[in-house]
Amino acid sequence: MKRYTPLFALAALAVFAGGAAAQQYPTRNLNMLVPYAAGGPTDTVARVLAQAMGKPLGQTVIVENRPSADPLAMTPERIAERIKPVSGIEMGAPPAAPGARGGEAIVKATCAACHQAGVAKAPKIGDKSDWATHIGHGLAPLVQSAIKGKGAMPPRGGDATLTDAEVTRAVVFMANSAGANFKEPAAPAAKKKSK
Ligand code: HEC
Repeated sequence: MKRYTPLFALAALAVFAGGAAAQQYPTRNLNMLVPYAAGGPTDTVARVLAQAMGKPLGQTVIVENRPSADPLAMTPERIAERIKPVSGIEMGAPPAAPGARGGEAIVKATCAACHQAGVAKAPKIGDKSDWATHIGHGLAPLVQSAIKGKGAMPPRGGDATLTDAEVTRAVVFMANSAGANFKEPAAPAAKKKSK
């Protein structure tokens, strides 16, 4: 993967040089950014390239070593990742948008951190005796506790992006897993199945 770096740098410079040829580009020294320390194999290749490029361009190409730059920044995978929002095609079900996340998914992602093992005496998922008294209070107060936080539980289980409806769905899912029979609030329009 490391070997790609100078090639990408070359490609980038070649594009600039070609696009601006009419204005006799380059008019100044060029910098070639090498995200590896001087003396390494990538640096060596970059320096050979820089010298070779300098002649036809009529400018000095200066190799700039920046090992602190993310060394993987120029791998094809990372580049693909960066341009993904523009070019990506999602296959299969996309992750639910904030506001449309289901109770089970939220519980697994957020609430289970404490409620799975009963951290700090959190009522355990699926444990009827742990939940019996809580369930006895009814859904609304439980949702209020989950939204505001209670004891060792931070507000919204620590995930501030959860909407009230999502917290409610998570509470319903957990309580029902321990014997309650609460009804999930209606899903927002975005989640409705279209034919
Ligand atoms: C950092 C740990 C932690 C996380 C994360 C967490 N909880 Fe809790 N939860 C607790 C603890 C501890 C209690 C018991 C609080 C008490 O009674 O003092 C609790 C209690 C509850 C109760 C019962 C409240 C009541 O008034 O009886 C509900 C409902 C609940 N949590 C829902 C959730 C939901 C939903 C999530 C995820 C969005 C979540 N929790 C995430 C620690 C956590």
